[in-house]
Amino acid sequence: MKKIMVTGALGQIGSELITKLRSEYGTENVLATDIRHTDVATEGPFELLDVTDAKNMHALAKDFGADTMMHMAALLSAKAEDEPLFAWNLNMGGLMNALEVSRELDMQFFTPSSIGAFGPSTPKKDTPQDTLQRPTTMYGVNKVAGELLCDYYFHKFGMDTRGVRFPGLISYVSKPGGGTTDYAVDIYYKALEEGKYTSYIAEGTRMDMMYMPDALQAIVDLMEADPTKLIHRNAFNVTAMSFEPSEIAASIKKQIPTFEMAYDVDPVRQAIADSWPDSIDATAAVNEWGFKANYDLDKMTVDMLAKLKTKLNV
Ligand code: SER
Repeated sequence: MKKIMVTGALGQIGSELITKLRSEYGTENVLATDIRHTDVATEGPFELLDVTDAKNMHALAKDFGADTMMHMAALLSAKAEDEPLFAWNLNMGGLMNALEVSRELDMQFFTPSSIGAFGPSTPKKDTPQDTLQRPTTMYGVNKVAGELLCDYYFHKFGMDTRGVRFPGLISYVSKPGGGTTDYAVDIYYKALEEGKYTSYIAEGTRMDMMYMPDALQAIVDLMEADPTKLIHRNAFNVTAMSFEPSEIAASIKKQIPTFEMAYDVDPVRQAIADSWPDSIDATAAVNEWGFKANYDLDKMTVDMLAKLKTKLNV
């Protein structure tokens, strides 16, 4: 049975990942850590941790007897453009600490990369697993460096490092903060609350997306995968759908016919989106560890709206 330590456990992915991991591996076997404290903390083991504090990270992992590290603490793309130096220090400093602690304590290691690891010179359609990665954002620079570092720890120290390049993640539970793909979450809230949404991403801008349950399952499946089958390590392209704003609006209209969409483009986030792929190819993940997504756009929309209706009481 795994003993898993999760950093950034109250973040966009972490807050749902700990619930998933606790149901798969047992509540007492998952240590949630974050720089802040909320009620989630009372549902199982929780410790306060600033990931730039290597000493505390080591002590917590050792005391818990963790054999697996899931390092989720990071600043997302738009926020990282606002504060590039802070992003570098948090994203890279945190990752180096998590890698070192995991090496010292002989832990299996997961950290997410992103479609943000690609840039304008990357092939835009069916972006291959192995391709040009020259991102133009601080977030992307962090993600590429992170992928390389994780591969380095695998080759140099034989550490069991694994990762995926997540697309935009959509969930009714946690809201992202400071990402470029956040519009695809906000739109569902506004559709129910106001019947209309103003998109900061321009019509025609395609990006890959995935519903959170598929993303969480992908993490568990990759970490359980037979290592002898893994040709790649850090990080696998994964995706469930690729759409542009008018397509998600059309999907919502099927459920809420009066829904209206307008556009007021934010140049910063639009430039980030323009530098990312339209659609990535997940064949390596499918072939090497059986990656599978269960939700397409319409199936996700039906589920999102139903769950959010209850959550928002509308
Ligand atoms: N959803 C993320 C972002 O927008 C992409 O990794 O920053």
